Amino acid sequence: MDNRVTIKISDIIDETKDIKSFVFNHELGAKPGQFIMLSDFEGGEKPFSIADCTADNFTITVKRIGEFTTRLFQKEVGDFVSVRGPYGSSFFISGGNFLLVGGGYGTPPLYFLAQELLKNGAKVTVVNGARTKDDLVFCDRFKDLDVEYANITQLGCLGRKGTSVDLAKGALENQHFDRIYAAGPEMMMKALQPHLHDQEYEFLFERYMKCAIGICGNCTIDPIGIRLCVEGPVLPKKLVEQLTEFGKYHRDATGKRIEF
Ligand SMILES: Cc1cc2nc3c(=O)[nH]c(=O)nc-3n(C[C@H](O)[C@H](O)[C@H](O)COP(=O)(O)OP(=O)(O)OC[C@H]3O[C@@H](n4cnc5c(N)ncnc54)[C@H](O)[C@@H]3O)c2cc1C
Ligand code: FES
Repeated sequence: MDNRVTIKISDIIDETKDIKSFVFNHELGAKPGQFIMLSDFEGGEKPFSIADCTADNFTITVKRIGEFTTRLFQKEVGDFVSVRGPYGSSFFISGGNFLLVGGGYGTPPLYFLAQELLKNGAKVTVVNGARTKDDLVFCDRFKDLDVEYANITQLGCLGRKGTSVDLAKGALENQHFDRIYAAGPEMMMKALQPHLHDQEYEFLFERYMKCAIGICGNCTIDPIGIRLCVEGPVLPKKLVEQLTEFGKYHRDATGKRIEF
């Protein structure tokens, strides 16, 4: 079923020099971890995670990287884009004690997740890391939620030098979490994984996507062949543990392997 809609950008928020949030007044009905495919009618269609979603609007947060995202950055409030979705698996929501580990522009879907966990009475700790403070997003939004929050940069711009994995290690030494959720660069999740031992976790993967509906096979992941656009992008521990390509290589638009 084609669930494509043409919708207006209702707000644009400058997060940092190269990161913007786009808000749409549209009832998407998404769950945390899911993504949309967005087209600007000028060529191509790209996946973006849902950073926030209420009954009548949703937000995506975009890092300017290449041709498509540079065009998106030229859009203004009132411009139209085409959106289909939401697609993919979502994070497991329940009550309990949870650690959310975010990195760079990968962190925003954890904001949507944190809100849904809080609605279920959960205790939530968020650690947010980035290379510099210009890559660190959603600090004020997380601070406005009823969560334990800490951030860090690799260059030490905010005082302490390190990564969100360093902050996560500290949190894991001090308390038991019912589940750890992570979203960000794959190498961040790869570095986090050995510290999680037998604890439950879910990771959000970003791999090259084309159809987003399980047909083209571009997003399959070795060796189990699951499609990250359908069975992912959120994968639980028992699947992540089987992935031989996790943190080693990914594929480009042609399917060619690219080493991390
Ligand atoms: C499930 C999922 C969720 C994502 N969520 C976000 C998000 O919330 N915010 C955000 O800024 N980015 C997100 N991305 C990545 C985003 O799709 C790419 O940054 C964007 O497509 C880059 O396009 P470009 O033309 O500007 O850059 P290009 O120069 O075309 O590509 C730069 C890099 O972006 C990635 N990329 C390009 N095209 C795709 C594609 N079709 N599918 C996946 N990755 C691609 C590749 O790593 C590539 O090397 C997500 C990707 C996936 C798979
Ligand atoms: S992007 Fe086509 S199968 Fe996943």
